Amino acid sequence: MISSNDIRRSFLDHFAKAGHMVVPSAPLVPQNDPTLMFVNAGMVPFKNVFTGLETRPYTQAASSQKCVRAGGKHNDLDNVGYTARHHTFFEMLGNFSFGDYFKEQAITLAWDLLTREWGLDKNRLCVTVYHTDDEAAALWKKIAGLSDDKIIRIATNDNFWSMGDTGPCGPCSEIFYDHGDHIPGGPPGSPDEDGDRFVEIWNLVFMQYEQVDRETRLNLPRPSIDTGMGLERIAAVLQGVHDNYDTDTFKTLIAASEDKVGKALTAEARASHRVIADHLRSSGFLVADGVLPANEGRGYVLRRIMRRAMRHAHLLGAKDPLMHQLVPALMATMGQAFPELGRAQALIEETLKLEETRFRQTLERGLGLLEDATAKLTTGGTLPGDVAFKLYDTFGFPYDLTEDALRARGIAVDRAGFDAAMAEQRRLARAAWSGSGEAKDAAVWFDIVEAEGVSEFTGYSSLTGEAKVVALVKDGKQIDSANAGDKIVVVTNQTPFYAESGGQAGDGGSISWRDGLSSRVADTRKALGKLHLHDVTLTVGPLAVGDVVKLDVDAPQRGAHRRAHSATHLLHAALRRRLGTHVSQKGSYVGEDYLRFDFSHQKAMTPAELAQVEADVNAQILGNRPVSTKLMTPDAAIEAGAMALFGEKYGEEVRVLSMGADDGGDTYSVELCGGTHAEALGDIGLLKITSESAVASGVRRIEGKTGIAAREWLNEREALLLEAAAAIKARPEEVPARLATLIDERKRLERELADAKKALALAGPAGAKAGPEMVNGIAFQGQVLDGLEAKALRGLVDEAKQALGSGIVAIVAVNDGRASVAVGVTDDLVGTRSAVDLVRVAAAALGGQGGGGRPDMAQAGGPDADKAADAIAAVKAALAG
Ligand code: ALA
Repeated sequence: MISSNDIRRSFLDHFAKAGHMVVPSAPLVPQNDPTLMFVNAGMVPFKNVFTGLETRPYTQAASSQKCVRAGGKHNDLDNVGYTARHHTFFEMLGNFSFGDYFKEQAITLAWDLLTREWGLDKNRLCVTVYHTDDEAAALWKKIAGLSDDKIIRIATNDNFWSMGDTGPCGPCSEIFYDHGDHIPGGPPGSPDEDGDRFVEIWNLVFMQYEQVDRETRLNLPRPSIDTGMGLERIAAVLQGVHDNYDTDTFKTLIAASEDKVGKALTAEARASHRVIADHLRSSGFLVADGVLPANEGRGYVLRRIMRRAMRHAHLLGAKDPLMHQLVPALMATMGQAFPELGRAQALIEETLKLEETRFRQTLERGLGLLEDATAKLTTGGTLPGDVAFKLYDTFGFPYDLTEDALRARGIAVDRAGFDAAMAEQRRLARAAWSGSGEAKDAAVWFDIVEAEGVSEFTGYSSLTGEAKVVALVKDGKQIDSANAGDKIVVVTNQTPFYAESGGQAGDGGSISWRDGLSSRVADTRKALGKLHLHDVTLTVGPLAVGDVVKLDVDAPQRGAHRRAHSATHLLHAALRRRLGTHVSQKGSYVGEDYLRFDFSHQKAMTPAELAQVEADVNAQILGNRPVSTKLMTPDAAIEAGAMALFGEKYGEEVRVLSMGADDGGDTYSVELCGGTHAEALGDIGLLKITSESAVASGVRRIEGKTGIAAREWLNEREALLLEAAAAIKARPEEVPARLATLIDERKRLERELADAKKALALAGPAGAKAGPEMVNGIAFQGQVLDGLEAKALRGLVDEAKQALGSGIVAIVAVNDGRASVAVGVTDDLVGTRSAVDLVRVAAAALGGQGGGGRPDMAQAGGPDADKAADAIAAVKAALAG
């Protein structure tokens, strides 16, 4: 028996021999088409080659492309498990001609492979052509020698293939295999074509058009070929079975399921085992290609697939999470052809286990509710929509899971009621928001979320990507199209741009669209926690809703955000380890290689503590361990040592960031965080703490720099030091000692200068001291000294008092156009005369006010230096009076 792996290989070999380039499967998340959820056909990765937008070094290609049909135009999820040929994941074998060969060679190559290489009985084959395609009909007759009754003309869309609402398309010709008259059913186009006897195995599409929008269909530059053959179907044919689930790949997976769950493939268990086998493949491949379960977008399709399988595992009686235990079987069957599975094996297992663990927490109770709600219903009954909504909202049952759960009993679900309940929940959310400050702006964001869903963030793994513009907002209002000069907010269905949240600044970058038009994205913000708002001032236009754009994050800027963010986590951990566990985060901001971290701590940190914390963080950076990010349940996160959780809803998963290791080997920092981070701690380069200050009572703030900014900051400091060294003509390392010497020297010089000035003043003409005179029986000595510094006054007055023994001294010093005066009273006279009173009299004469001191010594000043003699006279007069 030829295995599925051999069939794939012989298909690719056949076309390689005929001159085709064998191209590996592209990832399931389309790289070139943001309008598509998942790659759903072999031609998707070549879409731009067909339309002429992209050229490749070859014009013929063959591939075995991974496809997912769940969500979007081609959606098979509901049927999987209950039919012989529906899958959420399958492989499409295809050969392609990009303006090279056309119908004749395509038919020849296909016919040769089927009948010569694989030896299929020609009598079991028949084909369809589009009803107007005489050329294809004639070619089938010529090449395959098929009789007219085996070349069936079909007028419906079954024979016109299109990728989606837009994209390359054209008439097609399908090849059918007759599984034999033991199976009911008729050939295509016959009244019983819906039977299962004739199975389409290969679709040859004669690509001729490009559907640009609903109305416009253009001719492709050159007619091309796109074919698709489901590997699972052809495997069934070549392995002599009718049912895809009886082929080698599925037999292996179903056997593993039987084994692990301990339940054989009875009629009753059949659908469940099939669902599990199929969904294991799609889940495994989606995770390997970067999709993780989420509540929106691609992640939600994955979650729906996973949970659908998990309910069936529960139905089979699995006591523990099952799906992750089946991953080795998936590896055994498909790991060799798809090495990405092996690379992602641990992640696939972990993701499946986490999802199943979480879902099992609510599954039983949800099923209980479902049981109660349907107890009185019989076949043909309908489950009320609000119950389905409650199951969705509270118990995490995707809508299709509820439908699937009731399928066996013939009970339907009221979809309209479910939608109404969902709409009512949205209305309440909107109403709740209207009380808040953001209310004015919020309406437009609610409108967009309701119409378009949330923005899917793709920027953890990629800094660039295509997206579809779903809304443009100018001055708070939605617009259809914007022009050069408009300041707008651009909302897209998906984006690699991080929107400011959790303290991390939003991304900047560029947005570009058709004909090389592009503008700068200045910043990215978040609205309602759901939409990423790109702030753009268009430098060119127009840009319209519906346009496909390329989004490029400013990579150096993001790198700087990542370094600073990871350093902030390390800083937090270092502070707790050094200062104590009372330290908790009170706020933070992470910008370009800049961080600000506020934390609870009662007193200023000492320089030694700061140095220690900085050294601790840098030791972790030098350790250069990889940063690990995991999705966990809140319970598991707490167990792993993550700090308190805020606001996570029961059952929700959290992102846990783990970094570094301490001396005991424990993880250095564990935090919940939605931000973007360094891949390994060495990426941070360096943390330099630049300040520590108080922000509020009991709250301290550390600011710091990382990476490039840390180096620049240190360079600036060094430049300052060099400048200072040059100024004092010293080597940098001599600067402190030289400065100390200079300061000492300056003090000494100041002292000497003052002494010199004093000596000079005393030696001057006014300094020639007249002897004391007696005023009112008191010895009074008055003197004006030019060039004397005010601070020398007090000493001189004291000296004069001593010389007098008993009496009163008044000295005015005139310096730099100002006068200062001091009055001294010897102790024996303090009872009768006050120096303070007298100095005030002198100050008034000098145009000044007040004056202060003690009764035996007081000092004052005034602006009128030329009144110095008057001041002495005034004191004398006061003594006399
Ligand atoms: N693109 C074609 C299909 O998917 C071959 O059927």
